[in-house]
Amino acid sequence: MFKAHANLIENHYLAFAMYTILEAQNLIEKHLETLSIPDTPPELYEPVRYILSLGGKRIRPALVILACDLFEGTVGSALMPAAAIEIFHNFTLLHDDIMDRSELRRGHPTVHMKYSENVAILSGDVMSILASRLMNQAPGVVLNLVHEVFTKTAMQVCEGQQMDMNFEELLTVSEEEYLNMIELKTAVLIAASLKIGAILGGSSQKDAEDLYEFGRNMGLAFQLQDDLLDTYGDQALTGKKPGTDIVDNKKTFLMIRALEKASPSQKEDLTRWLTKKEFDREEKISAVTAIFEGIKIRELTEKRIRDLYNEALASLERLNRPAERKGELLNFASFLMTRNR
Ligand code: IPE
Ligand code: IPE
Ligand code: MG
Ligand code: MG
Ligand code: MG
Repeated sequence: MFKAHANLIENHYLAFAMYTILEAQNLIEKHLETLSIPDTPPELYEPVRYILSLGGKRIRPALVILACDLFEGTVGSALMPAAAIEIFHNFTLLHDDIMDRSELRRGHPTVHMKYSENVAILSGDVMSILASRLMNQAPGVVLNLVHEVFTKTAMQVCEGQQMDMNFEELLTVSEEEYLNMIELKTAVLIAASLKIGAILGGSSQKDAEDLYEFGRNMGLAFQLQDDLLDTYGDQALTGKKPGTDIVDNKKTFLMIRALEKASPSQKEDLTRWLTKKEFDREEKISAVTAIFEGIKIRELTEKRIRDLYNEALASLERLNRPAERKGELLNFASFLMTRNR
C-alpha cells in the first residue's frame, strides 16, 4: 500500500520534474568533455580545446536542453545538437575576436593573441565544420528540419557580423538598422537553440515558432546587455576588456542613442572621436564614456532592455504549454537580464 503510494508520487514527480538551468549547464559541460576532438595537428586542435576549456555561460546549449524538456522530449537526444550549437558559438567567438581586435575572452588571452591569427582562423573553421557534424547526429526523424534551422541560422550570424563591421565605418546608423544587425549576429542563434530543442522534444511547428519568438526578443535584450557590459562591466566578471566597442567605433545601442540625443557640441565631440585615426585608447574610452554619462545612456539602455525583456515574457506567455513547465525558461530570462558576466 505504502509502496504503491510512493510510486504514485514518484511518477507524478517524474512527469513534472524538469531540468533546472544549472542541471542543463552541468549536463552540457560533462557532455562537451566526452567529445573526441582529434590531437593532430596540435596547432589546429589545441586552440579548440583551449577555448572550450575556458568555460563560458553555456546559455545556448542549456536552452536546447530546456526547450526539449519543455515538450517532455528525451533530453539525451538533444545533447549532440546542444554541443553543436555551443561549438558553433565558440567558433564565432574566435573569428569575432580577430575582427574586433579583442585581446581577452573569458578572462584569458583570445586565441589569436595566444597562438596567431592564422591559427584562430583555421581552428575556427574546423569548429564550424565539427558543429555541423555533431548536428548531423540529431535523431533521423527530425534531422532535416533541425539541420535546416541550424545552417540558415549560421548564415544569418555571418550576415549580422558583416553588418556589424560595415557599421564601424558609418557615422549614423538608425536604431532599426541596429536591431536588424543584432537580430542576425546574436538573437537568431539564441532563438534557434530554443527552436531546435523544441523540435527535438517533439513540439508542433507552431509551438517551435512561438518559442523562437521568445528567444528572438530575449536575444535582442541579451545583445543590448552585452553592449552595456562592454562599457560598464567589470573585467573580473565579464572576462573581456572594457571599452573595446568604443575603441572599435562600434555602433552599439549606447553609441546610436548617444549620437541621436547629443547636443550639437556633444555630437561634435563624439564625431571627432569616431573619426580620429590616432588616439590614446584609455583617453578615448573615458572621453566617450563621459559623453554617454551626460546623456544618461546607461539608464536609457536599461529601459530598452526591460522593454525587450517584457516582450520576451509576453511571447512566452502565449506559448501553449502548462505554466509550471515554463517556469525554468522564465527564470532563465530573468537571470540573463540581470547578468553581469
Ligand atoms: C558573447 O556570448 C557573444 C555575444 C553574442 C554577445 P556569451 O555572453 O554567451 O559568451 P560566453 O559563451 O558566455 O562566453
Ligand atoms: C558578437 O558580438 C556576436 C558574435 C560573436 C556572433 P560582440 O562582438 O559584441 O561579442 P563580444 O562582446 O565580443 O563577446
Ligand atoms: Mg563583434
Ligand atoms: Mg566582439
Ligand atoms: Mg560585445
